[in-house]
Amino acid sequence: MSQEDTFKKIISHAKEYGFIFPGSEIYDGLSAVYDYGQLGAELKNNIKTYWWNSMVMLNENIVGIDSAIFMHPTVWKASGHVDAFNDPLIDNKDSKKRYRADVLIEEYIQKLEGKVDKEVSKAKKKFGDDFDETKFRETNPRVLKNLDKINGVLDRFRKAGEADDLAEIRQIIIDAEIACPVSGTKNWTDVRQFNLMFDTKIGSVDGDAATIYLRPETAQGIFVNYLNVQKTGRMNLPFGIAQIGKAFRNEIVARQFIFRMREFEQMEMQFFIQPGTEEKWFDTWKERRMKWHKTLGHDETLLRFHDHDKLAHYATAATDIEFNFPFGFKELEGIHSRTDFDLKQHQEFSGKKLQYYDNERNESYVPYVMETSIGLDRMFLSVLSAAYKEETIEKEDGKTDQRIVLKLPAALAPVQLAVLPLTKKDGLPDKARAIINDLKFEYKCHYEEKDSIGRRYRRQDAIGTPYAITIDHDTLEDDTVTLRDRDTMEQQRIKIDEIPQILKEKVSMTSLLKKL
Ligand code: GAP
Repeated sequence: MSQEDTFKKIISHAKEYGFIFPGSEIYDGLSAVYDYGQLGAELKNNIKTYWWNSMVMLNENIVGIDSAIFMHPTVWKASGHVDAFNDPLIDNKDSKKRYRADVLIEEYIQKLEGKVDKEVSKAKKKFGDDFDETKFRETNPRVLKNLDKINGVLDRFRKAGEADDLAEIRQIIIDAEIACPVSGTKNWTDVRQFNLMFDTKIGSVDGDAATIYLRPETAQGIFVNYLNVQKTGRMNLPFGIAQIGKAFRNEIVARQFIFRMREFEQMEMQFFIQPGTEEKWFDTWKERRMKWHKTLGHDETLLRFHDHDKLAHYATAATDIEFNFPFGFKELEGIHSRTDFDLKQHQEFSGKKLQYYDNERNESYVPYVMETSIGLDRMFLSVLSAAYKEETIEKEDGKTDQRIVLKLPAALAPVQLAVLPLTKKDGLPDKARAIINDLKFEYKCHYEEKDSIGRRYRRQDAIGTPYAITIDHDTLEDDTVTLRDRDTMEQQRIKIDEIPQILKEKVSMTSLLKKL
């Protein structure tokens, strides 16, 4: 199955089982806007809890806030978003489709890189153990030609970006003969800058109305509250402020499902540090954040770092944690060493001092900041796509069967325990409900009595429920139930009073957080 097919299947599975619906679907949807359904909301909340607790509960020196979406318009002047939060856009005159010029160029480079990789793997197969990949890359004429093209385009693209030269960006597209994927033509308009912030009006009277923006990131709500939190929380450096909240960007090329949305959620943490300690903290947060992802038990090959070569003028280091989504490796989270840029900008634009008095050094200064910033929806997509499996299973009669199973990390699963009475009679439902009534304060349990047990198991597999227990007539005699494991499909007989301990060890958020 191609990656594209897998992605389509994940999207339709997410809809079919109530994880994600297209926004305003009965009105034919709204581009790049999605609604989370009954199971999606649970999974999303569990991801939030995993992030929030790992930051705020496991670290004495990190606190959480919840700042407003609307902020004073000058915030976005100070942050640079009014002047520079732009995407370079280009239109194809025939298809009338609009593209991000930088994305067209990046995709062209990826295509060339794909060609190089193909040559390498073909040669690897041909020469077997004797194959010297480095030498092959340095000498094969076809590889060299493509590498030349890649480096040439990258060099021009970097220079054009630095000089803000939109005509040159267009020329790169023309010279590379990049065609519109829809019309197939190379009939392009000029490249224009387009600001990604949504604006609206505030004020009760029309005449008094002022333009304000829907925040494009949550981080600024943290920066403007730095002093409030530091003083009222009596925080000493180093300390962090965490926040989860909605952000809005008028993305022009909104594709790839919930990967790039116009309304999305971010989980951001700004860690305020002494100037001079940024290298140490950058390494620390890189390691901590990667561990947070890996603790979910993903296949190691799904995650990697991508260090930025090109840094913003105020940054000293930046890296992305990339995830191998069904459409390839893409940014999932950013870790940025931002110096004192943001606080200094706000200090200048607000006229208010945003300094820290360091008792040990006996001096005041503007702290440096280490930022970790992850999109909750992207995190959701990474968890969902890593979990989606189609399996062929052997049945007892020697035949095979297919199942779709979401192998979600147990603590994140929207339903953590399915409780299934074998029949609707003989008091089995009452017994099942009594078990749920004991557990429902800590775990999301699901009661189901319709259909055969086999079909009920399949439905639970499809939504990622890690455990199911079946209540049968023996349960009434000896208080035992059958516990079925989603991943291994193994079944074992256990006592009802063993269930809380099993869930605590294998399903609880605490068990996951303790692995960090
Ligand atoms: N405060 C820094 C900041 O906002 P960013 O790289 O623009 O940095 C951080 O965004 C994270 O937010 C990204 O790594 C991504 O996970 C998520 N994100 C950004 N734009 C998004 C969009 N349009 N849809 C979904 N997630 C998005």
